[in-house]
Amino acid sequence: MTIQKTADLIRQSERICILTGAGISSESGIPTFRDKQTGLWENHRAEDLANINAFHRDPKFVWGWYQWRRGQVADKRPNPAHHALADLEKWALENSKTFTLITQNVDDLHEQAGSTATHLHGHLWRNKCSECGQAYEGELDYADDALLTCPNCGGWVRPDIVWFGENLPKDAWVLAEQASSQCDVFMSIGTSSLVYPAAGLSQLAKQCGATIVEVNPNPTQSPHIDVMIEEKAGVALPEIINAL
Ligand code: APR
Repeated sequence: MTIQKTADLIRQSERICILTGAGISSESGIPTFRDKQTGLWENHRAEDLANINAFHRDPKFVWGWYQWRRGQVADKRPNPAHHALADLEKWALENSKTFTLITQNVDDLHEQAGSTATHLHGHLWRNKCSECGQAYEGELDYADDALLTCPNCGGWVRPDIVWFGENLPKDAWVLAEQASSQCDVFMSIGTSSLVYPAAGLSQLAKQCGATIVEVNPNPTQSPHIDVMIEEKAGVALPEIINAL
């Protein structure tokens, strides 16, 4: 029922906006952040790793953790959920609908599946200088956790990821707000909706008249869901595409 209802909503829509979180990559074998037992934050405190103070306090520890994460992600491939969203993007273009995919994820599985994704929290495979901000284009050997220095100013190289307390990339955020405020269907997929400002996009969409669909096997904090699909993304999304 909810699958067919979602397919009908998408078919009747003109502008579709999708927000994904770590849950969509979990079926590719990439741990989420807050799932019990398997979540990355289960064994670490985000405050000790994903913020600039932690990096300044112990750059080798933080850099080493991201190199470890890269090693964990390097051999992971898109799952049926990623492929379904790439198919939905193609379908939307063929049917003259506007389609925007926004992700909180820093892996590149959406791109590997053929999607165009706007990254709110950066890219795991990109690096920049922690001092001058210049992009670091040097070779990356994630098996080597030695710190790298910026060729421009000698500062430590850090992942090009948005850490807690840092601003989101301006262009990405403006695009995300615009798509969320103009869409008529907003799908929140695989996110706990705990981290702002990304978690506020569904509320913005709702306030602007969109219908909110959530795909998550677990209940979340989101207070304004119109259609709740309590299913894994890798199961629900292909079913929605097949029902279009
Ligand atoms: N399909 C859909 N959802 C799933 C699946 C699945 N197969 N498996 C798990 N989930 C759901 C979980 O129920 C949970 O609600 O995915 C969500 C993952 O939540 P988090 O681990 O909090 O990840 P996310 O919401 O992406 O975190 C947001 O927080 O730590 C920061 O910057 C980091 O981008 C991240 C942000």
